[in-house]
Amino acid sequence: MYVEFLVLENFRNYEKLILKPDILNVFYGKNAQGKTNLTDAIFFGITGRSYYTEREREVIKWGNSYSKLYFKLREACRELVIEISLSKTQQKKVKVNGSAVRGYPLGWVGAVIFSPRDINVVQGPPYERRRFIDQEWGPFIPYYEYNLRQYQRVVIQKNNLLRESRDRKRLYIDIDVWNQQLSYFGSKILATRLFLLKKINPLIRHFFGKLTENKEGLVIRYNSSLKIVGASEKELYNQFISEVTALKDEEVNRGQTLIGPHKDDISFLINGADARVYGSRGQQYTLLLALKMAQIEQWKQEYKECPVLLLDDILFDLDSNRRSALLSYVDGNIQTFITTIDDKALGFCKLDGSKVFVINNGSIACC
Ligand SMILES: Nc1ncnc2c1ncn2[C@@H]1O[C@H](COP(=O)(O)OP(=O)(O)O)[C@@H](O)[C@H]1O
Ligand SMILES: [Mg+2]
Repeated sequence: MYVEFLVLENFRNYEKLILKPDILNVFYGKNAQGKTNLTDAIFFGITGRSYYTEREREVIKWGNSYSKLYFKLREACRELVIEISLSKTQQKKVKVNGSAVRGYPLGWVGAVIFSPRDINVVQGPPYERRRFIDQEWGPFIPYYEYNLRQYQRVVIQKNNLLRESRDRKRLYIDIDVWNQQLSYFGSKILATRLFLLKKINPLIRHFFGKLTENKEGLVIRYNSSLKIVGASEKELYNQFISEVTALKDEEVNRGQTLIGPHKDDISFLINGADARVYGSRGQQYTLLLALKMAQIEQWKQEYKECPVLLLDDILFDLDSNRRSALLSYVDGNIQTFITTIDDKALGFCKLDGSKVFVINNGSIACC
């Protein structure tokens, strides 16, 4: 995937931006000038949605009623012209080569973002790790997003019913119906997560091994709220329905669904110790870098294409070993967008195939 050309109109603090990137692009600017906004715009143009917000209308520049993105993308065998319109009053519209499309993922290799927020994947609460799997690995599986939304809908509706049953002390016969739905979508989500983890795990361990010169061992474990007996969807369904049925009284008392993928977590064990609790900052960043490199590699294996890499305000936070490992990995193969407030960035000016830009209050100038 390669961004040939992009135009933004009323996107966050950009009134109008026209940009023709190179293979390596560095955006240098002070705080609050629009670096993260640009990163999100590029992610949006490639994937059809924002990385940073679920409330997409927020991206419309204040005081305006619409925002538009126009992207010309190139893959090995095709060109894609993406037009996205957001309006305060209408649904988002996405067009690909002139035809309207719906849904996510859009069906091609995406973009991988690495930003300081990712430290939450290691340090944060379990929902951060679930979000990571759902949003960053989910797009590898076509119906994952759909099944996840269905599952989340069922959890909300079932929870409403549980609370109603508790408060009104009514018979809760409908809960069985919701439990079937819950187990149906929940087992699909769980089976897919286990499948993805099994698939990506060797890649993550490979990169982690390389980054630590095989001095540190990494184990990734999926911690399910279910007692998993088998990993096939059917076995997981049977397990789910029997466990959740047995919990009915307790769930009514507590007014919430107590088990399922929305309660699960993963743990990263470095040399046997949980990286969340015991990992040094250096180990945590190494782990994150390995996760991101594995994600890129996974896209390559699935689509025989590289995703675009967006490094928002992170590259110069990595120590020099990790920084050079990352740069030599992307070198000339992966279109990369780096944002930074560090003036070391200006050193990239001398490299072939790279462009350095200065961002200043929503306008961008080439150095
Ligand atoms: N919808 C919007 N319209 C106009 N400005 C916005 C909008 N959303 C955010 N901003 C502004 O964009 C500025 C730059 O944000 P950001 O890209 O996060 O900066 P940074 O360069 O530090 O990454 C902030 O000052 C913020 O107030
Ligand atoms: Mg920023």
